Amino acid sequence: MSQAEDHAGNRRDFLYYATAGAGVVATGAAVWPLVNQMNPSADVLALSSIRVDVSGVEPGTQLTVKWLGKPVFIRRRTQEEIDAARAVELSELPDPGSENGNLPNGSPATDENRTLDEAGEWLVMIGVCTHLGCVPLGDAGDFDGWFCPCHGSHYDTAGRIRKGPAPTNLPVPVAEFVDESTIQLG
Ligand code: FES
Repeated sequence: MSQAEDHAGNRRDFLYYATAGAGVVATGAAVWPLVNQMNPSADVLALSSIRVDVSGVEPGTQLTVKWLGKPVFIRRRTQEEIDAARAVELSELPDPGSENGNLPNGSPATDENRTLDEAGEWLVMIGVCTHLGCVPLGDAGDFDGWFCPCHGSHYDTAGRIRKGPAPTNLPVPVAEFVDESTIQLG
């Protein structure tokens, strides 16, 4: 194959996968296991993913970035926040997970499943209230997590709905550390 043909072939493949990749990510969390299994190449992911430098995020604070038109909260939790979230039984949650737990893979909404790292220091969520779409406030509410002032939804320190009209937990997007201070969304 000549160099020109080779190039054209790559370009066709790229366009095809780019379209498929964008669709997969835009449809959201439910297809996460598929995305992982497909292991799309880096250039495909780059179209719909962003990298965020989190080196300046202190424990007890959060960064809000815009991704795919939505705010994403990246919170570095204190040990107290982690302990509070991990002490909660699934049976205490209005949205314990499974089908609509708003986790990428539909797993139970345990704190361990929702956080990015094993220690639970990093929590990444779509910052859109699952009631009618307002942006909740951090460090607020009856559970010291997030509070949506629009109609009074209280989320805990793992972003799980605990009180108020929101039907489900704050969604957890596809995210991972790509090096020690960089989180990739998508
Ligand atoms: S939009 Fe958040 S409580 Fe209604």
